[in-house]
Amino acid sequence: MEVVIRKDESSVAALVADAVDRLARAKPDAVLGVATGDTPIPLYRELARRVDAGAIDLSRFRVVMLDEYLGLPAHHDQLYRRFVEQEVIGPLGIDPDRLYGPDSTARGEQVDRAALHYDTLLTRLGVDLQILGIGSDGHIGFNEPMSSLASRTRIKTLTEQTRRDNSRFFHGDLARVPTHVLTQGIGTILDASHVVLVATGVGKAAAVAAAVEGPVTARVPASALQLHRHVTVAVDEDGASELRYVDYYRHTYDNKPDWQGL
Ligand code: GLP
Repeated sequence: MEVVIRKDESSVAALVADAVDRLARAKPDAVLGVATGDTPIPLYRELARRVDAGAIDLSRFRVVMLDEYLGLPAHHDQLYRRFVEQEVIGPLGIDPDRLYGPDSTARGEQVDRAALHYDTLLTRLGVDLQILGIGSDGHIGFNEPMSSLASRTRIKTLTEQTRRDNSRFFHGDLARVPTHVLTQGIGTILDASHVVLVATGVGKAAAVAAAVEGPVTARVPASALQLHRHVTVAVDEDGASELRYVDYYRHTYDNKPDWQGL
């Protein structure tokens, strides 16, 4: 895993935006996997700024979602699809037809079929670059602790902690936060060619340290990324504050040849 430590969240955003930019130049119709949450917002805004300035063209990208709530009405403003439309698709000038995600309207027995359908689609498309955030308990997507490290897209039950963390988007009312979701599995995420985990702020420091320097364990789903051949962990100083080998990470990145990119 390559750990890159930047001063603050805007420098993290610029770093990852450079990687997206590089991908777009090499492969204009690349498949970009996007995470929701607060963490990647500065990245999406930086990309939007570059698109507006005419510096990059992402219009031919295809965008795939990581996860989605189940049980919300089809037009609910907290569906992750709404977030991706508002923060990624619109601002980056991508046609909404090029956005793919799990079917949030699936109910009952349709849920397993919807999961399989999305997983098969992801395999067919092939994700070139997957952006990830990390939950305070080390989850990626909505793969909560004890998720199988080989899991595929499926229904998951959210932990109380994740529902509490996300209740801020539901007027602070825990009862309104869905209990179930569809999420790319850990095995599905590991199929992406390049995974970039973005983590900023001191609240993520313990999860980042466990994921990067701890044992590979289902207790910390993000630790499965240690098994992937091309992972970048992009963190700010606060997010890196519990990492032990910071000097090594800085030294390695400072001496990295420019042509390598992330
Ligand atoms: C949710 C999402 C994750 C995201 C996490 C952290 O659980 N399913 O993909 O990484 O929240 O969100 P934030 O960046 O807001 O802390």
